[in-house]
Amino acid sequence: MPVINRIADYTPDMTAWRRHLHTIPELMFECHQTAAFVVARLREFGITEIHEGIATTGIVAMIEGQGDGPTIGLRADMDALPMQEETGLPYASTVDGMMHACGHDGHTTMLLGAARYLAETRNFKGRVALIFQPAEENGGGGEVMVKEGILDTFDIKEVYALHNAPGVEVGHFYTNPGPIMAAADSFDIHITGKGGHGAMPHATVDPIMAAVGIANAIQTIVSRNNYSQDNLVVSITQIHTGSADNIVPEKAYMNGTVRTFDRAVQGMVLARLEAIVAGQAAAYGVEAHMDYHVGYPATINDAGRTEFAAQVAREIAGDAGVNANAGPEMGAEDFAYLLEERPGAYLFVGNGDTAGLHHPAYDFDDEAAAAGASFFAKLIERALPL
Ligand code: NI
Repeated sequence: MPVINRIADYTPDMTAWRRHLHTIPELMFECHQTAAFVVARLREFGITEIHEGIATTGIVAMIEGQGDGPTIGLRADMDALPMQEETGLPYASTVDGMMHACGHDGHTTMLLGAARYLAETRNFKGRVALIFQPAEENGGGGEVMVKEGILDTFDIKEVYALHNAPGVEVGHFYTNPGPIMAAADSFDIHITGKGGHGAMPHATVDPIMAAVGIANAIQTIVSRNNYSQDNLVVSITQIHTGSADNIVPEKAYMNGTVRTFDRAVQGMVLARLEAIVAGQAAAYGVEAHMDYHVGYPATINDAGRTEFAAQVAREIAGDAGVNANAGPEMGAEDFAYLLEERPGAYLFVGNGDTAGLHHPAYDFDDEAAAAGASFFAKLIERALPL
């Protein structure tokens, strides 16, 4: 794997940073220890312009190149997940119920590795904006950093980010021009019937039958209402109701997710959900209402920047190690908010044969850090040549 030699030499340090971060997962906007660790490393690298406290614990740090040129933003996410780690690793989470199960410890480490190299070598003109964000998993930290004005304040012209990918060879890359990650909305449905004895259903209005009817009808949105060439997922992910075998419950609660790439499809789904909930409620004689929550928008790569970034990745991984047309995925990513405002690209770097993202046995592969850091560093040297 032809990573940058100097960055390969950082591997013991990057591994130590990553494993330390793995022991101290933090959630949402509360990435205080993580941010302090990042700032301490940046200072060690000789980086002096460090802006802290953006979106609570976000950081933007600037590296000056040699001579005038534009500013390019490189982004890493820092937050972890509210789940119990089951890796048994010596550097496992020390915090009960929190875990770096999406590899954001590795993403932070890759950007630190690139920062160290770029600060030491400065073989570029213009400036690099290192963006370390909290609250990617939930809370939209990227959106908050955009709203707090980082793109204008630091005059950032383009933005790039990496995510690790279990199941893809370590050090290989993939991406897609245009849509790469979906918009993620959610909905809650509250159903109220009339509870009573399980042996006398005629005297009740059963919210369970209404929930089942609604769940079945919702499955027709993808199969009967959506154009077959438009990507769409509608999943019911929770139904909660009932307490015993001899009680018809009074209420039921349902929850689910909607993944789209297209605003027209998103609007169609909302209209169908409303019609289905109202129609099924009438059919079963229950009261039902839905709350629909618009979430992260679709992550849309700029086609030109994506091909440029793929070419940089080929320098690291070779032609066979880069898939530049991998197609979109139905996951979501709040880097979408940065890509709505500036052209750029989001890529994946292989994490090898590991447990999947958000699994209790997942771990970032430390071998991937050198590849990711080399990609970021090379991207800056190619985009901002002396
Ligand atoms: Ni993630």
